[in-house]
Amino acid sequence: MSNFTVISRNGQVVPVEGRDGISIMEHIRDAGVDELLALCGGCCSCATCHVYVDDEFQEHLPALSVDEDDLLDSSDHRRSQSRLSCQVRFTPELAGMIVTLAPED
Ligand code: FES
Repeated sequence: MSNFTVISRNGQVVPVEGRDGISIMEHIRDAGVDELLALCGGCCSCATCHVYVDDEFQEHLPALSVDEDDLLDSSDHRRSQSRLSCQVRFTPELAGMIVTLAPED
């Protein structure tokens, strides 16, 4: 089974069953982690779905778009592991990754 793990802002560890082609943002919301606001619904215009993805899985992530890069730049909490979770779809290569919610801006 292709699972991954979400760590909430208060440190709660939430196992999630990965569904191919579905965004990480949708997985997190469906898992009941409601602190991920995802205000724009996944159209890459709010940055409230900011997460950190394990270094070892970076190579399996899609390339950053200009829009995603610009939005992440607006965060005070951007790191090298930062992604907008609505812009990353689950694939089997991401099984085992840990996704940590970034602090709220
Ligand atoms: S949900 Fe708005 S940018 Fe991801």
